Amino acid sequence: MRVVFVGPPGAGKGTQAKLICEEWGIPQISTGDMLREAKAKGTLPQDLVEKMSKGGLVPDDVVIGLIRARTELDDAKPGFLLDGFPRTVPQAEALNELLASRGQQLNVVVALEVPQDLLMERAVLRRTDKRTGQIYHLKYKPPPPDADLEHRADDREETVRHRIDVYEKMTADLLPFYGNAGLLKRVDGVGDVKEVTRRVLAVVKAAK
Ligand code: AP5
Repeated sequence: MRVVFVGPPGAGKGTQAKLICEEWGIPQISTGDMLREAKAKGTLPQDLVEKMSKGGLVPDDVVIGLIRARTELDDAKPGFLLDGFPRTVPQAEALNELLASRGQQLNVVVALEVPQDLLMERAVLRRTDKRTGQIYHLKYKPPPPDADLEHRADDREETVRHRIDVYEKMTADLLPFYGNAGLLKRVDGVGDVKEVTRRVLAVVKAAK
């Protein structure tokens, strides 16, 4: 299975991707996580660190390079779930070319839909355990007392608002691109995490 998750900041892409990848034994490939890892190691150029913390997108060639290298690894051969990539039509075209060159194709693009007020609450109150990468929420999924919590630099209210605007501009072209290819499935991302997982799995299984 080769699956893409698209959705605004805080929609639950990372939460759902982790659950589904665990169940299916395929890697979750998140460009956001890869970029944050590079930042933590000090290997992400400073101009990109600043771009990310202000909520802007990093250049297409950077994320395409990350995806090309990561999807070549052995664990991605049986399939993968791309979380947060592609985000622009040029990224989607580059992904098509990459897969075609390997005789592969996407099975489905899942667009998680959540209204704006809920997105703000989800993103601003999100905390991540630095040691395990586990995603928590101060209201909906409180962390254990021993968690080593991190508040993402781009999860401040004004930055989240900007990220939502960026997402809306970019999906104006990206969603029709995948809609025209017959790959797009819209999933309601509001409700209990397990219920959303059931909805996602239903559309992904139908695309198998
Ligand atoms: P990225 O890390 O991809 O961030 P994002 O797309 O903005 O998405 P988020 O991680 O904010 O949200 P999510 O949908 O994963 O939600 P989560 O599951 O955590 O990208 C960060 C930055 O990197 C970008 O701004 C850009 O700079 C750069 N970048 C990345 N990819 C790029 C690309 N392709 N091109 C260019 N630049 C790129 O959930 C959020 C919270 O809600 C959590 O606390 C969770 O516990 C809670 N929650 C989840 N589901 C539920 C539920 N059903 N009910 C209640 N709470 C829930």
